[in-house]
Amino acid sequence: MIDQPVRLTTTVKGAGCAAKLAPGDLDRALCGLDLPVDPNLLVGLDRADDAGVYRINEDLALVQTIDFFPPMVDDPYHFGQIAAANALSDIYAMGGTPKTAMNVVAFPARTLHISILRKIIEGGLDKMREAGVVLVGGHTVEDSELKYGLSVTGFIHPARILTKKNLVCGDRLVLTKPLGTGIVTTAIKAGLASRDLTESVTRNMSALNRAAALVANDFPVHACTDITGFGFLGHLAEMVVDSGCGVRVKAADVPHYPEALEYADMGLIPAGAYNNRNFRGAFVEFGAGVPRCIQDLLFDPQTSGGLLFAVAGGDAERFVAALMSEGIGCASIVGEVVSGPADRMCVE
Ligand code: CO
Ligand code: CO
Ligand code: CO
Repeated sequence: MIDQPVRLTTTVKGAGCAAKLAPGDLDRALCGLDLPVDPNLLVGLDRADDAGVYRINEDLALVQTIDFFPPMVDDPYHFGQIAAANALSDIYAMGGTPKTAMNVVAFPARTLHISILRKIIEGGLDKMREAGVVLVGGHTVEDSELKYGLSVTGFIHPARILTKKNLVCGDRLVLTKPLGTGIVTTAIKAGLASRDLTESVTRNMSALNRAAALVANDFPVHACTDITGFGFLGHLAEMVVDSGCGVRVKAADVPHYPEALEYADMGLIPAGAYNNRNFRGAFVEFGAGVPRCIQDLLFDPQTSGGLLFAVAGGDAERFVAALMSEGIGCASIVGEVVSGPADRMCVE
């Protein structure tokens, strides 16, 4: 058993290679490759959506995704919960129902006790149980850096797939979790975050997007994605760029951890936020009144972030009220889809 708490977030990081994977690198790696063509592949790599979809028959399709990463919190059980909630989220973002999952594990057996792995998997199992998902197997490799996540398979009706690319002019944008988890977990690692804030961000990252996805079933939702590593504006860009529409974002209405703005002002900004700004900044126009710390918040890479919906404008208020009555207290209308300027995100 473990005698002392182990700092999972500071275990040996992988080989000392200076080059890092940046947003857009994967697109370049895949560009020009002979990708599979199959009439039943409804959403594949070329669509770059949250999960792939493969049709089995007229009424049923499989929706599949995989996600795994190193710890952003030190508690192994919570890390397991967060990693599982994050992996399941891509199924919810497509409008699917997750059914089965496989553990994906890289474990530094030389430096960490195996009981830590047990707690991580226990956290993952609890989230799978909550989601009604059955663990069917997994794969573990020895690695210098701890990583955990899931490969998830779900069911979806082929006619009810929620993709990113279906914005309609007049839609309202609705976000279901507060932004700032990247900045706040950076502050936690620096020993600056209070216990209350640490608990609050851990609870939100562990929360399934299941309830929000269920509510969305009853509303005219046109498009959806979940907010993860590219940050709010990075994932919004995936909806907006090449859509022919533009969006207006009301910075003051975006739910966030108030402390994240203080930390951002102190310079506690994860490297991913700069990468995200470099990648998508050209599509964004910030109004003169939008301070730098809010801009950083909107590019902050999220772990297990909320769902971002585009819902028919006239139903948006009712949608938010329904989300709130399901316990999603910070659900907010954060912007709207407009006719132009096309492919642009205006933040005011
Ligand atoms: Co996603
Ligand atoms: Co994804
Ligand atoms: Co993902």
